[in-house]
Amino acid sequence: MASRSWSPVSEAEPTSAAISAPRAPAYGSAIPRHIAIIMDGNGRWAAQRGLPRLSGHQHGTDNIRRITTAAAEIGVECLTLWAFSTDNWRRPADEIAGILRILAGVIERETDELHRQGAQLRHIGSLEGLDSDLQTAVLNAIERTRNNRRLILTLAFNYSGRQELLAAIKSLVSSGVSAEAVDEETLQAHLFTRDLPDPDLIIRTSGEHRLSNFLLWQSAYSEFFFTPTLWPDFSADDLCEAVREYGRRERRFGGVPGEDSAAPLVNR
Ligand code: FPP
Repeated sequence: MASRSWSPVSEAEPTSAAISAPRAPAYGSAIPRHIAIIMDGNGRWAAQRGLPRLSGHQHGTDNIRRITTAAAEIGVECLTLWAFSTDNWRRPADEIAGILRILAGVIERETDELHRQGAQLRHIGSLEGLDSDLQTAVLNAIERTRNNRRLILTLAFNYSGRQELLAAIKSLVSSGVSAEAVDEETLQAHLFTRDLPDPDLIIRTSGEHRLSNFLLWQSAYSEFFFTPTLWPDFSADDLCEAVREYGRRERRFGGVPGEDSAAPLVNR
C-alpha cells in the first residue's frame, strides 16, 4: 500500500505553540482520531428564544471554541466542523451576509487563541463567493497555524461532498491518469481531505438523521452519533458522551466480529 501523507500528532515536529494534550483515561484506547460535526439547529435554537436566526449562528459560533478545546483535551487529533454548505447559498441574503460577517469575526478574534492552543486551521470547500479580504484572512490564518500539531481543525465552509467528488474527478482527469490506474487511493489523493484520516465519528446535532451531502466518500466506515441537542447547547459533556458511545461500538470494516479488522485502504 502506498504511504499516506497524514502523520499523527505524536510523530510530528513540536509546535511552537503546543500545549500538552492530556488523554482522558476514561475513554481507554477508543478515542476517535477524527471527529466531524454537522453543527445543526442554530435557527431553531434562536426561534425557541424569540431571537433572530443570526443570533443562533452567533451562539453556535461561540460554541466552536468550547468544543474545539474539549476535543483537544480528550486527545482527538482532527476535528472537522461544517459551517456552510454549498446549498446554504439558497438562504436569504441577509442571513448569508450575517454568516460571512461571523466568519470574518471568528478569523479575526480566534486565530490567536487557536494558535496558542496549538491548533492547525484548515479549510475544505471553495472560497469562491467570499470577498477577497475574507479569502485573504482565511488563507493567512491557515498559513499562520500550519506548523501546529496539537489539533487539526478543519472548517468545511462552502463545502459539499458531491462538489468535492466532482472536483476530485476533474483533477484526476486533468492529471492525465489512465482509467486503469484509477483506484481508491488515487481518488483519495485528489480529495480536499487528502491529508486527513477519514472521520471515525460523525456527530449531527438537532435531531436530524441524515448526512446532507457531507464527507460522502470519507464517511464510508464512520460511526454516527445523532443527538436532539441543538448545536449552541451541545456541550463538552455531550462531546464526551459521544466519544464514550463511540467506544462502545464495534467497528468491523466489513469483517466479522472478533477478527482483527482494519479500515480498508485510505483510513488506515
Ligand atoms: C445550521 O443551523 C448551521 C449552519 C448553517 C452552519 C453552522 C454555522 C455556524 C455555527 C455559524 C457560522 C460559523 C462560522 C465559523 C462561519 P440552521 O440554520 O440550519 O438551523 P435550523 O436547522 O434550526 O434552522
